[in-house]
Amino acid sequence: MSNRIHLYIHVPFCSGKCAYCAFYSVPYESTLADRFLDALERELDGWPPEAKAAGCETLYIGGGTPSVLSESQWERLLSILRPVTRGGVQEWTVEANPGALRAATVKSMDVAGVNRISMGVQSFDDAILETICRRHSAADVAAALDVVRAAGISNVGLDLIAGLPGVDANGWLSTLTEAVALDPAHLSVYALGLEPGSRLYRQSRAGEVVVPHDDAVTASLNQAEAVLAGKGYRRYEISNYAKPGRECLHNLSCWRGNDYVGLGPAASSRVGLNRSTHKADLDAYCAALEAGSLPPAERECVDERTDLCERLIFGLRLEEGVAFRSRCDDAGAVGRALWERWQPGLKTLCEQGLLLQSGDCWKATRRGHEVLDSVLAQLVGSSGDDNG
Ligand SMILES: C[S@@+](CC[C@H](N)C(=O)[O-])C[C@H]1O[C@@H](n2cnc3c(N)ncnc32)[C@H](O)[C@@H]1O
Ligand code: SF4
Repeated sequence: MSNRIHLYIHVPFCSGKCAYCAFYSVPYESTLADRFLDALERELDGWPPEAKAAGCETLYIGGGTPSVLSESQWERLLSILRPVTRGGVQEWTVEANPGALRAATVKSMDVAGVNRISMGVQSFDDAILETICRRHSAADVAAALDVVRAAGISNVGLDLIAGLPGVDANGWLSTLTEAVALDPAHLSVYALGLEPGSRLYRQSRAGEVVVPHDDAVTASLNQAEAVLAGKGYRRYEISNYAKPGRECLHNLSCWRGNDYVGLGPAASSRVGLNRSTHKADLDAYCAALEAGSLPPAERECVDERTDLCERLIFGLRLEEGVAFRSRCDDAGAVGRALWERWQPGLKTLCEQGLLLQSGDCWKATRRGHEVLDSVLAQLVGSSGDDNG
């Protein structure tokens, strides 16, 4: 297996806060962003030389909204990353907001090796975009796509949200239709999550906004699958669709159970049995690195059973499924014992029509995907409390 790294960088700035969002970000301020870049450089400097030399196989710069950084800050970020990108990165994604993409910045991204842009669109209805506090219009999406394609980046993904308040079946169909008319390589279709800490969560609790019922959201997701399949997009993961060969390699690698490393506040890493999530606090992140310390984080070394369960569970999100038996065998005695213990659970899930088995390939059915969390709870619950 390649020792090249799957790296995620969390850029914690946005130009405002969208009503539904609970991702960690603070309002963009130039001096704060400079301080963040200094800290990020220190964090990367602290890596062992062999990790830097291995370089990145995939690199995902997310957030927040990385595209809000100024042009000179982008130049700086690209140069900070050079030690891990100079050998070439197979897939290098940057998340962008359609209202905040400058042609010159996209050109320097392209020159540095960025080859994929993921844009948060959410809806093509300007009135809905306003109610969810987005800072772009539907027309901005087409304009941003022109900028990205003119810079030479053809691998573009758009994010949509199903189940936004005020969107009926016709409105959702219009959004899907407008999205495919722009011919993106990739579409993420997320079910609206009512996240504690978001404005929408508070509005819903206060009865000021009514969010659609689960059944209506499921119907919207099924409608998306039908429309997108008709246009050549394959649903390769519960929330992700791609034209052939345009799957997001970075995310695919995480779902297939590979390790990943995260830099920046709120970023998570999974390396072997080690898990860590940096504290969602930009000031604390910068202060620690300025003092020559590691960023504050929740760090944990999990046992082999937890590690295996987590990696298998990620795999069940994928349309390609997961090779349960061989993954268990690869995990040694703990894995083989779990395999035995999971037999009744796997059999029941197949009988309930939630899982499908073909040889050693196990997949969630459509119904299984709709209730994936309870499927997984049922399975992992059957693994007992001990180490197998
Ligand atoms: C970090 S944001 C992406 C990029 C950029 N910040 C933007 O919004 O344009 C990743 C995506 O997560 C999705 N998202 C965020 N919060 C969500 C929620 N509560 N429910 C469903 N999808 C959500 C949105 O589709 C968003 O585009
Ligand atoms: S959805 Fe994107 S732009 Fe909106 S607050 Fe979240 S991270 Fe920022």
